[in-house]
This record gives sequence, C-alpha cells and structure tokens, in this order.
Amino acid sequence: MDPKRRVVNYALLGLVGTGGYVTTGWVFKSLEPPLKAQLNAATLIDTSTLKLNEISFLSWQKKPLFVLKQDSNLPIDRKRSFQIGSYFYTIMIGICTHLGCIPKYEASLQRFVCPCHNGIFSLHGNPISGPVTKPLEIPPFLVEKDTILVGQAGEIYKKLVGIKK
Ligand code: FES
Repeated sequence: MDPKRRVVNYALLGLVGTGGYVTTGWVFKSLEPPLKAQLNAATLIDTSTLKLNEISFLSWQKKPLFVLKQDSNLPIDRKRSFQIGSYFYTIMIGICTHLGCIPKYEASLQRFVCPCHNGIFSLHGNPISGPVTKPLEIPPFLVEKDTILVGQAGEIYKKLVGIKK
C-alpha cells in the first residue's frame, strides 16, 4: 500500500477509535440516574427533629417509614436498633410482611396492629401474633453524624441485616 495512503488510513482509524471511546463514555454517563433522581429516591432524617420515645411517621420512595428514637426508658432491641450519640434508633418500612397492608401504631400499647388480618408487631417491628412471621423490613440507610439517609446501604445497616462486607 502507498505509504501516504497508509498514514491517512491510520489517522482515520485513530479518529474513529477516539470517537467511539467518547461516544461510549457519553452513553454510559447518560445511563446513570441523574443526581436529582438519586436524591429524590432518598429520605434525609435529621435525628434532632425526632421526638424521643415516640414513633415518627415519615416516608421513603412513597412507602411509609416508622422511625423510633429512644433512650433506655424503653426496652432496647439491639438486633434492630443502632446508636447515635446517647439515643437508639429503629427504622422500619411500615408495610405488613404478611400481605402488605399498613399497620397502625397503638401508642398506649406500644405496638403496631395490622388492620387486614390483625397481625401484631412490637415497638421494634418484631412479629408478636397473628399471621405475621417476619419482622417489618429495615430499609437501607446510611448514618452521617446526626443524620440518617434512607435509601443507601451503609455499614450499620449491613451489620444489622447481616450483610457481610
Ligand atoms: S396483611 Fe397484615 S396481617 Fe395480613
């Protein structure tokens, strides 16, 4: 092949390669969810705003979220709670693990009762009676100082639910 033509061919090949690389990068970048969507998928909880020894009712991804902030005046469930400063927190998705109804909180008895088939969960979301056999699900969360970010799996969450590193 003519050496001049070979140089032109290599130059063209280089251009095509670079273009492909840039295009591939752009395609992959456009597949990532935008930052705004990622933030919309999360719920940020400022723990200083939660009432002590009460259930706070929030939401995450349109699902009800039950959050307990407690001190040692209430029994502490160390398998389902974690500590920030001097308080313990339990976060639960408020959807019954039997068939998906939303349990109601009975403050006087400190328990959740599911209206559909009378399944009863403890204050920390453990099944007590009725057809429920699994605890209320703990959503993925991340602790950052006094803030809990629900929607991303941090180390405390992985430890609570038994996910190995
Ligand atoms: S759906 Fe809650 S007990 Fe059946």
